[in-house]
Amino acid sequence: MTATMKHIFKQGKDPSAPVLLLLHGTGGTESDLLPLAVAISPASSVLSVRGNVLENGMPRFFRRLAEGVFDIEDLIFRTKELNEFLDQAAEEYGFDRLNLIAAGYSNGANIAASLLFHDKDALRGAILHHPMVPLRGIELPDLTGIPVFIGAGSNDPICSPQETEELSALLTGAGASVNVHWERFGHQLTGTEVAAAANWYRETIG
Ligand code: MLT
Repeated sequence: MTATMKHIFKQGKDPSAPVLLLLHGTGGTESDLLPLAVAISPASSVLSVRGNVLENGMPRFFRRLAEGVFDIEDLIFRTKELNEFLDQAAEEYGFDRLNLIAAGYSNGANIAASLLFHDKDALRGAILHHPMVPLRGIELPDLTGIPVFIGAGSNDPICSPQETEELSALLTGAGASVNVHWERFGHQLTGTEVAAAANWYRETIG
């Protein structure tokens, strides 16, 4: 199967640096998060992808039945589709498939978390801005050695602090090294949260 996803690929100056996979929030596009890549790792190549699902004209990475209620069948299908697209993109653009670090916001963070939940080799690390628990009741793969940054809001109306703690515990339980950064700006992705993610990247990845 060939997975087709609208995307931008930018070759970075340092071919050995991790490739940053950017995943937008609901209603976003592949252009939205490009500034994050500059903040996190300016020499990295960037693969920024647009979600294939439309909700009232708004791109998403998987369907939902209501706010915060995911269509799990579609989530699993779309997670596979994205993973296959990443295999293809690595071949097409000539980057190391095992050297991919995701940076996602909201719906994009949720599909990144779902990649981690389904395939231990999908990502080498992840920056998740305001993620939720993508799905429950599955056994996670061995994520030993995978660093994960979670940016969360203590007053996020879409993702409660309890859900952030639950996600963090699930990932930690699978062996991932999780860092949670808390802010008080609801579901917003703020400049200070981006700066915290960039600091975490420098300290953890290099
Ligand atoms: C979702 O995946 O639905 C998010 O957590 C919320 C959103 O993207 O609006």
